[in-house]
Order: sequence, then C-alpha cells, then structure tokens
Amino acid sequence: MDHLVSPSILAADFGNLARDIELVNRSEADWIHCDIMDGVFVPNISFGIPVIEHVKKVARKPLDVHLMIIDPDRYLARFHEAGADILTVQYEACNHLHRTVSEIRNLEMKAGVAVNPHTPVSLLKNILPIIDMVLIMTVNPGFGGQSFIMESYSKIAEMRKMIDDGGHKVLIEVDGGIDTGNARKLIEAGVNVLVAGNTVFSSKDPIETIRKLKKFQ
Ligand code: DX5
Ligand code: ZN
Repeated sequence: MDHLVSPSILAADFGNLARDIELVNRSEADWIHCDIMDGVFVPNISFGIPVIEHVKKVARKPLDVHLMIIDPDRYLARFHEAGADILTVQYEACNHLHRTVSEIRNLEMKAGVAVNPHTPVSLLKNILPIIDMVLIMTVNPGFGGQSFIMESYSKIAEMRKMIDDGGHKVLIEVDGGIDTGNARKLIEAGVNVLVAGNTVFSSKDPIETIRKLKKFQ
C-alpha cells in the first residue's frame, strides 16, 4: 500500500487552528494527528476533548488521536463522541491493554498502541491480532521539534518482521523528528504512516511539504 501522512496539529498555530486544518484539508495528507498530553504521563499539557470537537467540525480527514495520558480507559468513549477515528494509547499507560484496545474497537474506532523509545516492540506480540496500528515513538513523547532517535530503525525492522511473519493487518506509524530527509528511509524500512508536526507547519509551504512527504514511495 502507499504510505499515509498524518500532520500533527501540535505544531499548528492554535490561534488560527481552523485555518491550519483547512490547509491540511486541501493537501494530500491522509489523516490529522492530534496529540493529547496530560502533564502526568508526559511533562507537557497540550489540549483536550473540546478542541477535538472543534477540529472535527472543520476536518475533512480522519482524526488520528494519540493519547499520552495515564489511565486512558476513562476517556475512550468521550474521544469517540468528540470525533476520533483512530485512537492510540501508550503501552506504558495501560495496565490491561487487551481490555483497552477491545473497548476502542467496540466503540468502532481503529485501535493503535504506541511504544516509547525504551519499550521493546516484542512486548506487543500478543496484542497484534486485535489492533490496527503500532505507533513507534521516534522521540521521547511530550514535545514537538525534537531530534529523531536513530535506534528506532531496528525497532521498525523488528516490528515489520513480526507483522509480516504473523500475517497481521497492522499499520506501523512513526512519530517524532520525521522530515523530508528521513521519510524515504522510513518507508523503505516498512513504515506505513508518517506523523510530522514541525516539518509541516514550520515550513514556508506546508502543502508542498506534505506533497514531498507523500511522494517517497
Ligand atoms: C510528541 C508528539 C508528536 C509531535 C511530533 O510527543 O507525539 O506527535 O507532534 O512533532 P515533530 O514532528 O515536530 O517532531
Ligand atoms: Zn503524536
């Protein structure tokens, strides 16, 4: 399959959020990545459910919602009601991951599981049959604009092999420090979805930058 691009609105202009979402609507982007941070799981606070509701009103692409929050079970239904299409929880934040991803799917959203840079992807082996996406964090979560962690390549290769060997229908998404310089290598390594925040929204021409991220295949 062709790879997908999911611009992260964490790097958008929050004072002109509707304008930036319209920009993504007009682009070749596939999804809109929304980072939810609680100031506990990660040392930063971003935005919450009311913002997702407003994003949903303007967005014409699926919302790819990345929860960097502890105990996400409390909010799964509310993110669904707010308009999330793909809901990703952090492996490290879930005591009963099977229950959590089952509930996400019961709510008719796609279920993703994210792993921090220190978390081995082998821990996801038994959850692969019931999820739609693995998000391999390529920076430590919490902030946009950080440098890509080079050790991520071996995790991507290991996860690609696990998915292919098991015959699973699971996408691999990468998030953090993605730019037009490393996009091709990531796609070649087996990544299916590129998240990009600053690369898109800090560029002079975000629509053209999204086009560049899409054409590496
Ligand atoms: C980081 C977030 C990312 C962030 C990526 O914790 O999960 O989605 O927006 O930002 P960039 O692409 O600027 O590294
Ligand atoms: Zn993210």
